[in-house]
Amino acid sequence: MNTFTATQERMRALDARITARPDRFRVLTGERPTGRLHLGHYFGTISERVTLQARGVETFLVLADYQAITDRDTADNVSINVHEAVLDYLAAGLDPASTTIFTHSSVPALNQLLLPFLSLVSEAELHRNPTVKAELAASGRALSGLMLTYPVHQAADILFCKGNLVPVGKDNLPHVELTRTIARRFNDRYDDVFPEPESLVTASPEVPGVDGRKMSKSYGNAIALGMTADETAAVIRRAQTDSDRHITFDPVGRPGIAALLTTAALCAGTTPELIAEQIGSRGAAELKRVATDTINDYFAAHRRRRAELARDRSAVMDVLQAGVERANAVAETTLDEVRSAMGMHYTLT
Ligand code: TRP
Repeated sequence: MNTFTATQERMRALDARITARPDRFRVLTGERPTGRLHLGHYFGTISERVTLQARGVETFLVLADYQAITDRDTADNVSINVHEAVLDYLAAGLDPASTTIFTHSSVPALNQLLLPFLSLVSEAELHRNPTVKAELAASGRALSGLMLTYPVHQAADILFCKGNLVPVGKDNLPHVELTRTIARRFNDRYDDVFPEPESLVTASPEVPGVDGRKMSKSYGNAIALGMTADETAAVIRRAQTDSDRHITFDPVGRPGIAALLTTAALCAGTTPELIAEQIGSRGAAELKRVATDTINDYFAAHRRRRAELARDRSAVMDVLQAGVERANAVAETTLDEVRSAMGMHYTLT
């Protein structure tokens, strides 16, 4: 059996187990607060989190602020990015009563797990991580100690709350594998404290940016969830298309056109081919009009809720405050177990 089919089968079986006993799972998921969340995040991860929440799975959602400084020399905008992300989570329907939203820098006991965890991995293992290698190459800078070890820190993100289900794209699979290794080694060496978390490989589509490459803020091809309808129209207006008035879905030959068709189809719940057929020979300007309207219609309610929430700054802060408090309580309990398992309790209290 090839790995693709094996993964698909594992996902089907996992899905059935989640449906049968959602209460047995705890999701830990998160992202780096390095920019505004965009349509790629929405269709890639946020909507899946909302679905898991509706299925009754408890979720911890980390805004990995220390991970924002793995490949850059500045923490500028981290605070605003954190607040903006919370607005999008709430507007998308994540409910802070069942989803604990927090920043990992605010949870000291989580970070302390890094020390014993580091002792469980070799330098050679860390250097082999393909995602770290790719990110290092893309960053164009020297390898920092944090860049090399952040996957171990990510294991602390996952294991502090005994998360056993981690929805990830393929970039993060090596980190979940490392987390499993760390959990296993800790349990073998000391005592059974941690679950071996399973990755939930999402079937969600990769959303192209308006130029046909993967949507990414750093490519300047992203439509942010928080943009207004007019800002969205402006981004789409600038998209590179071509002069062939007959619109066809051809991702290789016509990447800009295909990207608009794909995104419009995602929002309309149909296929890019069908939208191409409906536009026929009315040209790229008509395609841009259709894509703009479809995307703006789809996100109108999200943006309305978002704008409403943004009016009250303290609402977001309250959500973070409650999330951080809960995360701290959970992390302190786990750290206590870890220190007990390691024989590092020296007083009665
Ligand atoms: N590395 C993840 C990303 O690329 C962000 C992240 C940090 C994360 N900690 C996590 C994801 C724990 C899943 C689980 O965005």
